[in-house]
Amino acid sequence: MNDQRPATAHGGPILLAENITFAYAKQATPVLENLDLSIQEGEFFCLLGPSGCGKTSVLNLIAGFQQVTGGRLTLAGQPITGPGVDRAVVFQGEDALFSWLRAIDNVAFGPKMKGMSRHERYETARKYLNLVHLSGQEYKYPSELSGGMKQRVQIARVLANDPKIMLMDEPFGALDAQTRGKLQDELVEIWRATQKTIVFITHDIAEAVLLGDRVGIMSKGPSSRIATIIPIDLPRPRRRGYAGFGDMWEKINALIDGEEAAGDDRASNDGAAAKISLVHRHEGHAELVRK
Ligand SMILES: Nc1ncnc2c1ncn2[C@@H]1O[C@H](COP(=O)(O)OP(=O)(O)OP(=O)(O)O)[C@@H](O)[C@H]1O
Ligand SMILES: [Mg+2]
Repeated sequence: MNDQRPATAHGGPILLAENITFAYAKQATPVLENLDLSIQEGEFFCLLGPSGCGKTSVLNLIAGFQQVTGGRLTLAGQPITGPGVDRAVVFQGEDALFSWLRAIDNVAFGPKMKGMSRHERYETARKYLNLVHLSGQEYKYPSELSGGMKQRVQIARVLANDPKIMLMDEPFGALDAQTRGKLQDELVEIWRATQKTIVFITHDIAEAVLLGDRVGIMSKGPSSRIATIIPIDLPRPRRRGYAGFGDMWEKINALIDGEEAAGDDRASNDGAAAKISLVHRHEGHAELVRK
């Protein structure tokens, strides 16, 4: 399979952030300021940025868990005012599943809430568990599944709700490198099969280059915004060792370095966060060299 769809093949903007500002209660300096972003329907968009810059805050705004303080954030033209079934979040933590429900019941939960018949919702759950390569594991409880399997169940659970947008906050961050690589490949397959719009947050440059149609690089916080957007025009399926991959990695790495230097000029009170992001980037580089 070789997917070289140009950006114009997507279905038009589905998510639009216009000059948004966001501050948590009683916060003097906003976390996000003058943030603009337009995501196309069917796009795989990766959001990359230093630790603490506000990536999860952006995701929480899109999910409707928080409200913008200023500007406009719309989904399919409608302002986002709260959570909705058109958006679904895959979290990093393994404890996001209902521990008292078997894998199949976790996935069938959303369809059940929608009033789907028992037969239909189990059929739906089986279909999505099959898509995430978990056939045969349907009747296990979360405690009986590995970390990678739990993330697969989360993805299946989200897909069973048939959202317009999948929001993923470092979903593979806690997994070992091999499992992470496998799930990255599987996610691309799922994205191609379902044509969902995906907003995927990561610290890892290599992950962003592997997955994204475009990568949005956030500036260092506070008052963070989308500093640059890089289209990843590498053919799919992508591999870390393929021509162009390393160049893209270097390009993004240099942009992040530039952003961090600019951020250090703007405010020098966040040294610890900068160090953490540096460690993450070195991990990404180590992976790049190894594969
Ligand atoms: N509930 C909250 N109340 C007040 N401030 C918060 C809250 N959650 C996050 N913040 C602050 O907002 C800023 C952005 O946090 P956010 O979690 O969005 O960053 P992030 O980019 O996702 O970080 P990481 O990469 O570490 O996950 C940080 O300075 C953080 O301390
Ligand atoms: Mg976060």
